[in-house]
Amino acid sequence: MQITSFEQYQETYKQSVNEPEKFWAGIAENFLWKKKWDNVLSWNFSEPNIKWFEGAKLNITDNCLDRHLIEHGDRPAIIWEPNDPEKDSITLTYKILHERVCRFANVLKKNGAKKGDRICIYMPMVPELAIAVLACARIGAVHSVVFGGFSAKSIADRINDASCKLVITADGAFRGNKQIQLKEVIDDALIGCPTIEKVIVLTHTRTPVSMLKGRDCWWEDEVKMVDANCPAEEMDAEDLLFILYTSGSTGKPKGVVHTCAGYMVYTGYTFSNVFNYQPNEVFFCTADIGWITGHSYIVYGPLSQGATTVMFEGIPTFPTASRFWQVIEKHKVNILYTAPTAIRSLMGFGTEPLNGIDLSSLRVLGSVGEPINEEAWHWFDEEIGKKKSPIVDTWWQTETGGIMISPIAYVTPTKPSFATLPLPGIQPILVDENGKEIEGNGVNGNLCIKFPWPGMLRTTYGDHERCKLTYFSTYENLYFTGDGCLRDEDGYYRITGRVDDVINVSGHRIGTAEVENAINMHAGVIESAVVGYPHDVKGQGIFAFVIYPNLNKDADLTRKDILQTVTRVIGAIAKPDKILFVSGLPKTRSGKIMRRILRKVAEGDTGNLGDISTLLDPNVVNEIIESSKTL
Ligand code: WTA
Repeated sequence: MQITSFEQYQETYKQSVNEPEKFWAGIAENFLWKKKWDNVLSWNFSEPNIKWFEGAKLNITDNCLDRHLIEHGDRPAIIWEPNDPEKDSITLTYKILHERVCRFANVLKKNGAKKGDRICIYMPMVPELAIAVLACARIGAVHSVVFGGFSAKSIADRINDASCKLVITADGAFRGNKQIQLKEVIDDALIGCPTIEKVIVLTHTRTPVSMLKGRDCWWEDEVKMVDANCPAEEMDAEDLLFILYTSGSTGKPKGVVHTCAGYMVYTGYTFSNVFNYQPNEVFFCTADIGWITGHSYIVYGPLSQGATTVMFEGIPTFPTASRFWQVIEKHKVNILYTAPTAIRSLMGFGTEPLNGIDLSSLRVLGSVGEPINEEAWHWFDEEIGKKKSPIVDTWWQTETGGIMISPIAYVTPTKPSFATLPLPGIQPILVDENGKEIEGNGVNGNLCIKFPWPGMLRTTYGDHERCKLTYFSTYENLYFTGDGCLRDEDGYYRITGRVDDVINVSGHRIGTAEVENAINMHAGVIESAVVGYPHDVKGQGIFAFVIYPNLNKDADLTRKDILQTVTRVIGAIAKPDKILFVSGLPKTRSGKIMRRILRKVAEGDTGNLGDISTLLDPNVVNEIIESSKTL
């Protein structure tokens, strides 16, 4: 199923559009099914109702584990690199991973979990995180992984939204020179989570934790009490595989739902093709499993293809800015998949951290999560890829399950900062505000997809209407991505960034409304408005305009208090980079905040603010501009 030439890509693409069902059925033949499908696809985007491979029976872990055992049981499945370079790395072969997943699956069963139950996972980047994820899939439980940087309140919201029954966590996590007390955060969260019956705790940092009798148990004790034989649960193609929460323009994060068969086929196919993965190569995706990139391209995609996947617990700059490169050298990484934010941050250290490090194993480089600027693209190409490794700039989303628009390594001619062309099966279309298709090349528009693909979301958990409203109602019969996009003269796609109120900070999606709600919870704050602004390393930074009438303490202290509130409510990742105290916000007569103006102020571009005559009080703008000069 690997595409090896540009002509073949063009042929395959054509076929995938002309005969999508035949195309995807052909791809699906490469997977292991307990029973094959009766029907490849039924769909409409109006409800929406999307079903792939209906009637098929499978378990994704049979594909990620069991089917590799006979020929490749001793091949490394996961190579784990710890935060502390002085500590040993760990290699789990497919055989060992299979055994440990089965054993932990039995632990889950012993603790009352069964098919269909939701399980929250809040863990550090250790092999047991991948084991926990796969063990859920093994028994047909639905995992909801929450990134280790989210607060107790965020976790509680997610647990309650999905009525989770169990939590899998660890005592703590290491991140650079910091320690995060995961179990303590979980304890705080669970005060408000009546559906949780059991908490399984992995020992990792050996920090003291409190264990609640009857509720909490240790991972290490539990695995001793079960055997390692656990046949995979038979799942229907459209049974839920997992929920992953992500931010949108309004309200609380929503639980994006992915199902078993389509997600498996799509992540496996895109992994194998985009990265041109060859047997026995080492693949290193630097994301955290708490995000979709980690789900699809650390765990499921690579493992379904029998690949060796690296899990790195640490951060690129600890203990030094050589760390990433040392990991690549040490494990002879062939394919590196990372984020522009990491590239830009490492670029800032120059080439000195690269001295004496052998990167010759690298063969493919990947980028994901945000637009990559040309400077970072060239640095990646020259200093890391030594101009011999193709860069795949992969555009996709939590909702799309896998990569959508991207070069295929060694196949698609690349162009800096372009995600280039749609993968087979993907039918992008650009539309104007009224949903009218913008045809031809050399055009800009809102990016939509007009035909289903196997990896797409099926619903948002517990609220199908919200899924319809968010993705399928803006434009009739189209999936709306929320991204703006340019299609250049060659028909190449360049994603220009979000056109809604979502900001992309270091590749992490954050809703402005969420941050505003968090800031507004701080006593003393009357109202706030949050916008993104260009940030050299993070891509976008968070700029908050805050009305705080009685600023009698020193302003910096109040800023710190507000940051503390945001950290408590959402997590440190949502902390504003800048807070400006203002006496009013630019509102229209109907009470809507004119964010366009705030964005300009945040960018420091106040020369041309456009028409402000519709504002209720245009003077507010001058005041804001004046006080912004004091920041
Ligand atoms: C942005 C991450 C430009 C985009 C996989 C999208 C990108 C959002 C790229 C999804 C890229 C992702 N070039 N922008 N290669 N990849 N984005 O859900 O705005 O965390 O809508 O999924 O990231 O972020 P998410």
